[in-house]
Amino acid sequence: MNRETASVNIKTLPPGPNARRWSEFHRRYAARSTYHEGFVWDRSKPAIGPFCTDVDGNVILDFVSHVASSALGYNHPELVRMAARLQAIDPDRYAGCDFIGAWGEEPERSEIPTPSHLHYKLMEITAQFGFGSAFFSNSGAEAVENAMKICYDHKQNYGYGICFYGAFHGRTLGALSLNRSKKIQRDFFPQIPNIVDFPYCTCRHHPCRCGWMVCCTGKEGLRSRLEHFLDPDIGLVDPGEVAFIILEPIQGEGGYNVPSMYFMKEVARLAKQYSIPLISDEVQSGMGRTGKWWAIEHFGIKPDIITVAKPLRVGATLGKTDLFPQQEFRISSTWGEGNALSSAIGYTIIEVIQRENLLDNASRMGNYFLDQLRGLQKKYSFIHDVRGIGLMDAIEIHSRERRDQIIRKAFERGLLLLGCGYKVIRFLPTLDIHRREIDLALEILEAACKEAE
Ligand SMILES: Cc1ncc(COP(=O)(O)O)c(C=O)c1O
Repeated sequence: MNRETASVNIKTLPPGPNARRWSEFHRRYAARSTYHEGFVWDRSKPAIGPFCTDVDGNVILDFVSHVASSALGYNHPELVRMAARLQAIDPDRYAGCDFIGAWGEEPERSEIPTPSHLHYKLMEITAQFGFGSAFFSNSGAEAVENAMKICYDHKQNYGYGICFYGAFHGRTLGALSLNRSKKIQRDFFPQIPNIVDFPYCTCRHHPCRCGWMVCCTGKEGLRSRLEHFLDPDIGLVDPGEVAFIILEPIQGEGGYNVPSMYFMKEVARLAKQYSIPLISDEVQSGMGRTGKWWAIEHFGIKPDIITVAKPLRVGATLGKTDLFPQQEFRISSTWGEGNALSSAIGYTIIEVIQRENLLDNASRMGNYFLDQLRGLQKKYSFIHDVRGIGLMDAIEIHSRERRDQIIRKAFERGLLLLGCGYKVIRFLPTLDIHRREIDLALEILEAACKEAE
């Protein structure tokens, strides 16, 4: 498949017979989960950039990049080469928190990036925050779990945790306590005590109307709810008892919500004032997706901890060294620091982003895409909002049914999209997306909107 000439090609209306067969085969024993109805990627068939082939031979334009997990699309030559060099060594996952996995005699002359090298690379792209420590794990949820543990350990108390409406931080038993996007993610699961939530302000006007600002007795004028909560005189908790504040600098599963600058600055100000560690969960928004390495940089804020996973291929909790546990046995995971293949791929992804200037591409192509989406909004009144930064973009549709219909119609025409929030369609194409590929996606999206009118 040649990326320059590749196009969508629908031979059998997806999901075709083979997709149905695979789906049935897989789901016979697979526990119910978040499966997409219909897209079955044929890993044995041609794929390049944002194009892949499904099991019925349809060429699909993938605008969700495995929910941000394939930042460079399918079969990027450098990643394929790296994987080929490593695939003959077993185990590819080893007890990395117990034994260090090296490559060659000297780390400086290693031909293959190991998890140790990935630490260095990540420190390079978080230097602006003064980070000095990294801990790897197996997923985004684990990266979040470890971030929380690091903060509780640092504070040496069983204190409060602060999260925001619309948040999604993972599905493990600890991380789900922080979720505020869908009821089903938390119902009947026991949760970490003392997690308190506040509005996530996306208002474009100040003072806002979302409930983030309140008028409180005893103090003059409007203040943020968080300021009121933490106020040593009239607040509800001793700020010293708050172990962490966690937020997504752009909410992912909650609906691709872009927060207001005022809100972000206020959260950062209060975190600093009361020495509360601020965790930026960049599992979906990080690693260049928004045109900067970390989405929080768009707000001029320096977090204390960042969590990342999907595009890095390993879960990682990165942060200021003085926050991390000084005792052994506080954080560890058999495969966490021993995921050889994924660490080498993660390292190479960062190198490719740097060398090919893909932050710049994500900004330029993102701006172009958002402009075109705004054009589409003028034509279709059911598109209520267009939002995003860089290549983390979305449109909000007036009803959930129509949103689902547009996603289905687009897929039948070969464009793979996903929903998020209640009635939002998200777009997260590869970071090296070409203008031609964006135009193709827009053409299909417009046709799907026309059909759904
Ligand atoms: C912001 C954020 N945090 C955490 C997670 C959980 O990551 P994982 O599914 O790898 O556990 C996700 C997943 O979508 C996410 O978007």
